[in-house]
Amino acid sequence: MSLSISAIAPHGGQLINRIATAEQRQTFIEKANYLPRVQLDARSQSDLEMIAIGAFSPLTGFMGQADYIGVVNDMYLTSGLPWAIPVTLPVSQAVADALTEGDLVRLDDTNGEFIGVLELTEKYTYDKTHEAIQVYRTDDANHPGVKVVYGQGEVNLAGPVWLLERQPHPQFPQYQIDPAASRAMFEARGWKTIVGFQTRNPIHRAHEYIQKCALETVDGLFLHPLVGATKSDDIPADVRMRCYEILLEKYFPEDRVILAINPAAMRYAGPREAIFHALVRKNYGCTHFIVGRDHAGVGDYYGTYDAQHIFDEFKPGELGIVPMKFEHAFYCTRTEQMATSKTSSSSPEERVHLSGTKVREMLRRGEMPPPQFSRPEVAAELARAMQVPAGVS
Ligand code: ADX
Repeated sequence: MSLSISAIAPHGGQLINRIATAEQRQTFIEKANYLPRVQLDARSQSDLEMIAIGAFSPLTGFMGQADYIGVVNDMYLTSGLPWAIPVTLPVSQAVADALTEGDLVRLDDTNGEFIGVLELTEKYTYDKTHEAIQVYRTDDANHPGVKVVYGQGEVNLAGPVWLLERQPHPQFPQYQIDPAASRAMFEARGWKTIVGFQTRNPIHRAHEYIQKCALETVDGLFLHPLVGATKSDDIPADVRMRCYEILLEKYFPEDRVILAINPAAMRYAGPREAIFHALVRKNYGCTHFIVGRDHAGVGDYYGTYDAQHIFDEFKPGELGIVPMKFEHAFYCTRTEQMATSKTSSSSPEERVHLSGTKVREMLRRGEMPPPQFSRPEVAAELARAMQVPAGVS
């Protein structure tokens, strides 16, 4: 069975492209040595890239104050479009003081290479604690997203940006499929309904189960692991990507799945980030988006299904992408299959579920997670990649 929804428009109706033309690039390069410079951190660098390729449509640059306030307080841009996470370029007061509104600013990457240009239209201060409470639902400095906000500069620079050049991804060039390309691929395959899947963890059987449940009702699955900055104890992106390749080879039909990287940085903002993740996947051409248990959550900051409930705060159709909500999935030893409490009456003892922390601990000891949790081929790859020599903590 297929749901009948036709190709989906990008958020705001138009796919943004902020990659400099050859002519613009030439002009920027000629000016580069004379422009004031700002060095981006890993997150801002990802954000620049996401804006440039249209993944953050309708954004054409870093947010000005009015959009920032609308997003932080109410989850709306001034245009009236929903948007849940501020996309800002914070710098120190000293850096901001050296810049004048109207300047073209040279943006350098974390290695000091010239990668983009900002037309500075505005600089403004903001309240970090307020942002933390509104966006992350906590002012606790131990929250990894809040920690970034507290550690960043106190002035936001705003204005339209250009990415100098779209470089192939250094690790995963074959999986760099930007929104215009994913949309073309969906069309070429004749897919009308596509479900997007966000992940920052190695694939386990609960992921596979909800992906396949979703795939039963749509034409295609867009597997879209996040490969931008994550917290240091998350499993590295190259290991996660290898696990996906291994799994796809044996456990999924080739013509129903597209694996692509999401270059964004992780915020760990739980419910707010679920909305953000969904809108980004809409820009890639997805009509549906999977939201499972504690989506984009960390620690105990969010309720298990808060990231699902937040979708109900928007009017039907306002987001323009349909969330597919899944209960906490586990392996059920009574029925010998994956299930949730909606499909199995098993007792807690009959449910195999492992926390991410537990799995990481096992892997560090060189132990394989059990087959009820992880496909053996994936478990073997994880154990091989993550084992640390005895005596090293
Ligand atoms: S996330 O930070 O990217 O959300 P993760 O990679 O663990 O983390 O999750 C990817 C998606 O799978 C999210 O939608 C999450 O809610 C969902 N998910 C993860 N584990 C389960 C599970 N056991 N049951 C149901 N959904 C799950």
